[in-house]
Amino acid sequence: MEPPFDNPYRTAPGSVPPALVGRDAELSAVRYALALTRTGGAAQPVIFTGLRGMGKTALLRRCVTEAEEEGAVVLYTEASRETHLSQALRRSLEHAKRQYASVPRKIKSALEAAIRSLPEATYEFPHDLGGVKLSVPATPTRHESFTEALETLNAETRRNARFLVIAIDEVQEGDIRDLRTLVEFVHLTAGTPEPAFFLGAGLPNTPTHLHAVRTYTERWRYFRIGLLSEKETRAAIAIPARGLGVTFEPAALRRLAAETTGYPFFVQEYASAAWMQHHGDRVTGADVEASAPGVRKILEDSYYDNRFRRLTPRECEYVLAMASLGPGPHSVGEIAAALQGTSEGLSSVRNQLIKKDVVFVPAGGMLEFRMPLTERYVERHRDELERRARTAQRDARHERLP
Ligand SMILES: Nc1ncnc2c1ncn2[C@@H]1O[C@H](COP(=O)(O)OP(=O)(O)OP(=O)(O)O)[C@@H](O)[C@H]1O
Ligand SMILES: [Mg+2]
Repeated sequence: MEPPFDNPYRTAPGSVPPALVGRDAELSAVRYALALTRTGGAAQPVIFTGLRGMGKTALLRRCVTEAEEEGAVVLYTEASRETHLSQALRRSLEHAKRQYASVPRKIKSALEAAIRSLPEATYEFPHDLGGVKLSVPATPTRHESFTEALETLNAETRRNARFLVIAIDEVQEGDIRDLRTLVEFVHLTAGTPEPAFFLGAGLPNTPTHLHAVRTYTERWRYFRIGLLSEKETRAAIAIPARGLGVTFEPAALRRLAAETTGYPFFVQEYASAAWMQHHGDRVTGADVEASAPGVRKILEDSYYDNRFRRLTPRECEYVLAMASLGPGPHSVGEIAAALQGTSEGLSSVRNQLIKKDVVFVPAGGMLEFRMPLTERYVERHRDELERRARTAQRDARHERLP
């Protein structure tokens, strides 16, 4: 007979784990903002930023659930480069209409009016035989009518003792004009007794993106979502198991905390693999020893190897220098100095690394590794990367020969 499927770990992107640990400050800021908004006070919009897999979406979803429990009507969506934000909003309005089946008819008609104010998608077949592109014709009145529709929705929501929350994931991908419509709407309601609350999540370049939308977004509340502490990591692993009557041995927890370094995505992956390995009511150090190398191989392969395999010798040299400066963003000048070069001279290497999705620009003049714990990966593969980088140094010497 097959064992019951009871794995309590959540490895899917955006999934809310049973123990969402280490995010108390963010949750209490949002709870305060929701209570304030509900009672008619305008709260500072809250934005979660962080690298991939840190848990921004999980946190945003938890906040959406809490907002709904507080009586909010939530428009929740994800911005993406392929789909206009207005299109994504249309879907979230349709979703809200279905989800809030019990809301008064007036709110429902306001949701319908908001849906009507957003144009429907048209399909364009691109010249290559790739697929179908979604596009929305921008009309000069589109933004005004959507603002009006949001105003009506907000007013109806309030008239029925509810309040409006707009939650956008992947904000950095959002079209500037569409975001401006939303941001201005929220800003305008802040001056009225019927404020709406804006909540967002995105990569670390989100503040810069929002700055281009409206400069007053500088005064929003930003939380950088990072690695979990060792204590939080242990809790993220032990609590879901405990709920099912299973205990992790101290050695197992120690090894998992070291292996994952508190990176939430890895925490779920390694804990899940150890869970699959265990028997009875204990997860032992041996279960972790047996399962961890396989997980590490899969994660390194899909997360880092794919990117690093394609690096040229000069790019290897650059990432080695960057990794030696430690985690977090570094100025391009600082990296150039570590390479005894100039920022200008290294701009093409930099651009290639951005194109290859190894690094990104979190703010003007800064550079950061795209994937968390890249420094650790570079350290583990230092010998190989240095060997590849030496080719660049040899080539440079050859170029200098008369
Ligand atoms: N506080 C937490 N404690 C433990 N696990 C968490 C926590 N937050 C998120 N996770 C888990 O980490 C993984 C990544 O979470 P999530 O997809 O929300 O990250 P993200 O920052 O939105 O990533 P991306 O930028 O790729 O969208 C998921 O498996 C999720 O269940
Ligand atoms: Mg996400």
